[in-house]
Amino acid sequence: MTTHTVLGLETSCDETAAAVVRLDGEGRSEVLSSVIASQIAQHAPFGGVVPEIAARAHVESIDAIAAEAMGQAGIGYEGLTGVAATAGPGLVGGVMVGLSFGKAVALARGLPLVAVNHLEGHAVSARLGAAVAYPFLLLLVSGGHCQLLEVEGVGACRRLGSTIDDAAGEAFDKIAKAMGLPYPGGPALEKRAEGGDASRFPLPRSLLGREDCDFSFSGLKTAAARMAEKVDKADHGDLAASVQEAIARQLAERSDRAMAAYAERHPGARRFVVAGGVAANRHVRARLRAVAETRGFSFTAPPLAYCTDNAAMIALAGAERLTLGISDGLDAVARPRWPLDQAAALRSPTHAPGRKGPKS
Ligand code: KG4
Ligand code: ZN
Repeated sequence: MTTHTVLGLETSCDETAAAVVRLDGEGRSEVLSSVIASQIAQHAPFGGVVPEIAARAHVESIDAIAAEAMGQAGIGYEGLTGVAATAGPGLVGGVMVGLSFGKAVALARGLPLVAVNHLEGHAVSARLGAAVAYPFLLLLVSGGHCQLLEVEGVGACRRLGSTIDDAAGEAFDKIAKAMGLPYPGGPALEKRAEGGDASRFPLPRSLLGREDCDFSFSGLKTAAARMAEKVDKADHGDLAASVQEAIARQLAERSDRAMAAYAERHPGARRFVVAGGVAANRHVRARLRAVAETRGFSFTAPPLAYCTDNAAMIALAGAERLTLGISDGLDAVARPRWPLDQAAALRSPTHAPGRKGPKS
């Protein structure tokens, strides 16, 4: 197997990112550079991501960010064996920026292009820091997604469950907003929860009595947002801790159930991976680690820098695909929606039409 050195590009939400990753024939990866330009300051006044502002900011910075990633990697374009760009799901105006840029580099340098599914990037992100073998059970938990997947290999996922309404990150963000915390809400709420009493405020538990691995956060979100208005500001630390625990508990309970089912099918592959922005939350990590230990699963989470959106995970997904001989034509399209497990998504759409989040 050959070594691949890939330039990755990520522009699907509010970070413009470029990275160079090398994947050797033994499956070992090395991040040669990873540059992220966050647009947080541009979106903060609006309390959330504004698609038009995001697309414009990507156009303005993609050139410089890619040049910086190439410079830091110190290999020159002739040292690359491929280009990987996020082609969806995400805010399509932004996705088009990175994908078009990737196509231009591929065309100009005669390199193969890989149109990467952003979720596949998150799925492989734990492999950036550790040698996690396939197959593994994945909890993908971010601002736009909350799902449990059996990952057989790159491009081969089976969905065990997903949210029927909001994603966990979305719940963190919206509750944080109701508490008057700055955007983005997840990290701010984690900070506010420090030292808080997590048992102080009882919050609703969703989908009790169901045996599957689906999630629901909208009831919790509404209840917590109401409480935020009612209770004294001085009690917001306890409320934040209660919210964080309620979200972590649901993630842990469903992961536990998924591990039980997964272990029956893959008795020799007790590996559990958590990825996506919410995997940066220390309480969530601790809860999930405890469940994995009880079930006899190994537990892996990406290094913090690769939990939230980044291009190293896109470059690695591209490199893994190239290793399998998979690449895409220059006619690859930007896709606002692109489920990892297409068959499961068709059988049971996670959102009703008209209620889809930007990354459903
Ligand atoms: O993976 P990501 O960067 O973007 C998506 O693909 O959605 O995830 C962003 C989400 C946001 O909802 C953010 O609030 C959440 O991850 N997040 C956190 C933390 N850091 C990021 N949520 C809770 N605690 C954190 N420390
Ligand atoms: Zn993401």
